[in-house]
Amino acid sequence: MTRALITGSTGRLGGVFLSQWENDARFAVDTLTRADADFRDPDQLEKALKKRDYDVLINPAAMSGLEECLDHPDEAQAINVLAPQVMAEVCREKGARFVHFSTDYVFAGHTPGKKSETNTPAPVNIYGKTKLAGEQAVMTANADAIIARVSWLFGPCPPGRSCHFDQVLTRAMSGEPQEYIHDKFSMPSFTPDVVQWTTGLLENESASGIYHLCNSGDPESWHSSAEKVCEIALELGIIDTLTSLAALPISDAHFFREPRPIHTAMQTNRLENEGIAQPRHWLETVAEYVKIR
Ligand SMILES: NC(=O)c1ccc[n+]([C@@H]2O[C@H](COP(=O)([O-])OP(=O)(O)OC[C@H]3O[C@@H](n4cnc5c(N)ncnc54)[C@H](OP(=O)(O)O)[C@@H]3O)[C@@H](O)[C@H]2O)c1
Repeated sequence: MTRALITGSTGRLGGVFLSQWENDARFAVDTLTRADADFRDPDQLEKALKKRDYDVLINPAAMSGLEECLDHPDEAQAINVLAPQVMAEVCREKGARFVHFSTDYVFAGHTPGKKSETNTPAPVNIYGKTKLAGEQAVMTANADAIIARVSWLFGPCPPGRSCHFDQVLTRAMSGEPQEYIHDKFSMPSFTPDVVQWTTGLLENESASGIYHLCNSGDPESWHSSAEKVCEIALELGIIDTLTSLAALPISDAHFFREPRPIHTAMQTNRLENEGIAQPRHWLETVAEYVKIR
């Protein structure tokens, strides 16, 4: 049985690691929450990590809000760069495997087309810059670590967290008008699938370095993906009618204070080429999502 320590278990992705692996006989699960160690304090984190026993450390914890990173760059640096570096070092000393989660926002996104693990990152905002620096700090400290880049997470969420499609469906059920950005593209990714692919990576003793973990399909905007989710929800009887969704250009999204990269959809070359997984189309997961959310 693999002893797994999970950070960020109150978050969208960490919460699904916890719920899936708690019910998986291959894992004995423990969590490291903010109450156990605040990642803004690297010494506190190091002590907490050294006290625990684990074979695998999973780190989905992050400062993931773009404007939050803009407003608190020192905290973003501590949580997104220094904390994973400490984790990578402690895992190397303990001989534990380390999976650190990163993002498609490490890419500049200036040109269309899916990005592979070999594409050069060039982040355009503080969030992306700290996440890229976190990747580099982890790989320097521990060459055996796995960097798992994910994009546009959706799935069942712990209390207090939600995803884009939760908002879309809640509004669709109430018949509220909706407006979403139509000219920024990424790949929606179902969190239970991310947990499955990570499990596959851990089953491969030699997996290390950067992997892209996302579902397959054509790049989607918040608008195009919302329309497709509403159509499936209508077929499943979750909503009664399709209300029209207005398309907003990103240039009109004045509430964004940080630039967003436009074309960041990823392809999963390493997962596929190394025989770890063939990610299913994201639309295949939507029926499951609307039932369990
Ligand atoms: N969400 C997306 O669509 C998306 C897209 C691309 C990449 N990613 C990446 O995927 C990973 C998971 O994202 P997510 O959406 O699951 O994140 P999330 O829902 O924002 O959860 C973040 C987690 O980090 C914890 N955390 C934050 N600051 C902390 C601190 N100072 N000390 C200890 N714990 C702290 C939070 O704990 P509290 O509950 O105590 O705040 C929470 O459990 C991240 O690496 C993110 O960069 C996410």
